[in-house]
Amino acid sequence: MSEGVQTSPAFTPRVFSGIQPSGGLTLGNYLGAMKRFVEMQGVGYETIYCMVDMHAITVWQDPDALRRQTRELAAGYIASGIDPDKSILFNQSQVAEHAQLAWIFNCVARMGWMKRMTQWKDKAGKNQENASLGLFAYPALMAADILVYHATHVPVGEDQKQHLELTRDIATKFNHDFKTDFFPITEPVIEGAATRVMSLRDGSKKMSKSDPSDASRINMTDDADAIAQKIRKAKTDPDGLPSEAKGLEDRPEARNLVNIYAALADQSVESVLSEMGGKQFSEFKPLLSELAVEKLSPISSEMARLMQSPDEIDAILAKGAGRAREIAAPILKKTYEIVGMVG
Ligand code: AMP
Ligand code: TRP
Repeated sequence: MSEGVQTSPAFTPRVFSGIQPSGGLTLGNYLGAMKRFVEMQGVGYETIYCMVDMHAITVWQDPDALRRQTRELAAGYIASGIDPDKSILFNQSQVAEHAQLAWIFNCVARMGWMKRMTQWKDKAGKNQENASLGLFAYPALMAADILVYHATHVPVGEDQKQHLELTRDIATKFNHDFKTDFFPITEPVIEGAATRVMSLRDGSKKMSKSDPSDASRINMTDDADAIAQKIRKAKTDPDGLPSEAKGLEDRPEARNLVNIYAALADQSVESVLSEMGGKQFSEFKPLLSELAVEKLSPISSEMARLMQSPDEIDAILAKGAGRAREIAAPILKKTYEIVGMVG
């Protein structure tokens, strides 16, 4: 981050974030999360990144698919530039301290807080009675993921903002109830041109791995032809590109494609528009495809290579889990002491 590391002096600057292995990785995950994770590596923070498989099973996951998707996500992290020597990379379920702290937080968080979560309302839909208890408690586990490392910064996409506010509420209530300042009040890091990548078919919907339409998203495993075809068919409006950002107001599809271009090119939206203003989408889309293929194809070929060596992936994750436990175990132990658990 340009403003440098800012945190309370009491806590080590530490980044934590996670992605669910609940399907393939999308361009939204890459630009909104993973690319940002890589940027925060080696710049003054300890960095801890996770496959949150316990979050994934809050909705049904086929066991074989979960295994494959967890390894594929690990491959995606590494292929995108997460270096397992610089960052701790592991699978959530393998560090039991997450679940243990989550139970304490289930007893700190209030039902009313959980009921207000928009992700709960969206995912449970009309049939809340039939949703899993885990789906309801999901944000308390997310708070535990973060706070079991005393993480100070959490890079995520825009859709996770509410969950991070709840994490701060849980830390604040715990600290207040037990008259301590043990847990940090974590800072969300929601930055860049692509904090909310939208569906290619509908500019009002988030690009998501769970959208039934494959044409709505770019998958990290798509080949050059698939990427080009999806961008060619992406919904736009009849106007050309404006030369300033305010010309994208009320044009969600156009804005989305420009944001994607800016994030892939590491440029600001303003500088993209100063170069591209006046072009029609028939000219802009091939440039966007070319850029997307240039940036994504090395990642997808490295992912494919890594997927040939599941043992190598598993060894990296096992080592990461060991390092994660070394940080989490003393924090959990101290939490138990604060709560009054005898051991
Ligand atoms: P999930 O796939 O829901 O586990 O999300 C993992 C990370 O990717 C979170 O930080 C999300 O905020 C981010 N993310 C997911 N979809 C998008 C999107 N369409 N645009 C930007 N960020 C996203
Ligand atoms: N809830 C996040 C998502 O769906 C994933 C997640 C779980 C997470 N635990 C986390 C993100 C901790 C950041 C920090 O995207």
